[in-house]
Amino acid sequence: MKILLIGASGTVGRAVAARLAHHQLITASRHDSDFPVDITDQTSIQRLFERTGPVDAIIATTGSLHFAPLAEMTPEQFGIGIASKLMGQVNLVLIGQHYLNEQGSITLTGGILSHDPIRQGSNASTVNAALEGFVRGAAIELGRQRRINLVSPDMLAESAGVYGSFFPGHAGVSGEHVAGAYVKSVEGAQTGQIYRLWGVTGHGA
Ligand SMILES: NC(=O)c1ccc[n+]([C@@H]2O[C@H](COP(=O)([O-])OP(=O)(O)OC[C@H]3O[C@@H](n4cnc5c(N)ncnc54)[C@H](OP(=O)(O)O)[C@@H]3O)[C@@H](O)[C@H]2O)c1
Repeated sequence: MKILLIGASGTVGRAVAARLAHHQLITASRHDSDFPVDITDQTSIQRLFERTGPVDAIIATTGSLHFAPLAEMTPEQFGIGIASKLMGQVNLVLIGQHYLNEQGSITLTGGILSHDPIRQGSNASTVNAALEGFVRGAAIELGRQRRINLVSPDMLAESAGVYGSFFPGHAGVSGEHVAGAYVKSVEGAQTGQIYRLWGVTGHGA
């Protein structure tokens, strides 16, 4: 399969790329030398797909959020997650659907904070919950046997050094474990699914 992976150089993206290395993998991100893209810029997304041409799968393991106490959060700061992780991924779908082959798939990335909030995480909870709604809504309309799913990871073990203090009690899930859900989404047959890779909370599948 010809697979476009946006965010391949990140913590989640590297784990996903390793598990999908047997496919024809096109990696993209702002600093990628071959396929640069900024998902907050629709023109940049359009240019990316014009360069890749038709693909069998689109995966997004990217998108910024703003973490801050609610009492200090400004509308501009809240807009970071809306413009990047939410609308960046939504726009990848809205534009990318026109380059997605029959029976192709799209896999987006959400996160545990949709249902399991932490301090300073209101922007992330909002964005991750909205992405779940988008995937459910889009799944029934994609057509031509094309599919869309969302992977919702807990904090990755690899990110514990950075985020661990924000996630009391969370051991972290391994990138390799999380990457399995992306493989399932791409190589499996399901659509409209939210794959929850959640550890200590007990909400996970
Ligand atoms: N790590 C975790 O514990 C964890 C847990 C749950 C959910 N998630 C979610 O997983 C996703 C990836 O997280 P991560 O920890 O892997 O992040 P990361 O290590 O910071 O990597 C982010 C990736 O996205 C690219 N990127 C960033 N902004 C971009 C933009 N505007 N346009 C295009 N590419 C962009 C980066 O490359 P460039 O700098 O070259 O653009 C990089 O490849 C995020 O949505 C995050 O919320 C992460």
